[in-house]
Amino acid sequence: MTKRFPTGFLWGAATAAHQIEGNNVNSDWWLREHDIDRVDRIEEPSGDAADSYHRYREDMRLLADAGLTSYRFSIEWARIEPEQGFVSRAELDHYRRMVDTARELGLEPMVTLHHFTVPRWFDAGIGWRDAASVDAFARYVEATLPVLDEVELVCTINEPNMVAVLAHASAHDEFLAGRMPPADPVVADNLVRAHEHAVDIVRGAGKSAGWSVATQAFQPEPGSEGFAREFSWSREDLFLQAAANDDWVGVQAYTRTKVGPRGPLPIAEGTELTLTGWEYYPSAIEYGIRNSWVHAPGVPVYVTENGIATADDARRIDYTLGALEAVARTMADGIDVRGYLHWSALDNYEWGSFRPTFGLIAWDRETFERHPKPSLAWLGGVARANRLPG
Ligand code: NOJ
Repeated sequence: MTKRFPTGFLWGAATAAHQIEGNNVNSDWWLREHDIDRVDRIEEPSGDAADSYHRYREDMRLLADAGLTSYRFSIEWARIEPEQGFVSRAELDHYRRMVDTARELGLEPMVTLHHFTVPRWFDAGIGWRDAASVDAFARYVEATLPVLDEVELVCTINEPNMVAVLAHASAHDEFLAGRMPPADPVVADNLVRAHEHAVDIVRGAGKSAGWSVATQAFQPEPGSEGFAREFSWSREDLFLQAAANDDWVGVQAYTRTKVGPRGPLPIAEGTELTLTGWEYYPSAIEYGIRNSWVHAPGVPVYVTENGIATADDARRIDYTLGALEAVARTMADGIDVRGYLHWSALDNYEWGSFRPTFGLIAWDRETFERHPKPSLAWLGGVARANRLPG
């Protein structure tokens, strides 16, 4: 297996608006964070987050100076269309400046149009269970075209399979019982249709479009092979397939799930866990990439997220090296992987808490001063060499 990557391979880091920008006040998540009556109450609100709404230039500069060549970020529907039908010119300009900044700094921007958060009006009045969501999303996507002028890579929807899982009517009870509900089929269907429309729109504007699927490396115990698919609650196969007509597929992976005859198995005692409570398992991404190639054969793959929540940055480097070796193995087998975007550029708001630190860059909670971690220099070094160390 060669350690060298092809010329033009993208080396980057990823973020999402709500997790780093701060004060995303018109979004459904902001409302959830401040609604004291909710049963599924959130541990900690996002507040100013990393204040990247104002500090994006500094953040991108750190990535570029380290040697990375790409930045994946999301634009926020709740800012762009805070009320249904009202498109904020100022927010379009803001995101356009972000794209221009990325280009200026030599970072290939990959722009995600929808990363979990939606405007309050959409959540309250429409939602992904309603077929009207497809048109509402299409109108938003059309409105974003001025932002995308200088963008080549557009990710329509982040982890649609997780959106469909979280939308399942019994999601809350299932989570409390330590289980994952299956993807909600109506929501899944609407997301697929919303994606297809979005792809038509952005392709019509000359962009290359895909979406990012959460993969879980479902691994059957010997003798339970037949059960792996049955218990693949996130239905990644369905979403990878639905992507089969796209220009590329985004694959995201962090850990694995072992499966026995009665469903997903608990993590064995003594296993190394990350700050999210997931098994430390760097090869997860290999499974995701190979699964994508099975369900969307021949469609180029970008690793749009992969990383580890840890306070031990040396362990982050170990994990990332393991993951990159796994990526290289898939490429040695002929799979067309075009880039690796690490999650995440910055420590960020992990949907309820700032405790799981995924970032290549830390920041001070009071002053917001940025502190790049050794892992950023390490990944930047890999990017500059365009090969794995050793
Ligand atoms: C996937 C999601 O897209 C992202 O928002 C989240 O922070 C990471 N996984 C880590 O859980």
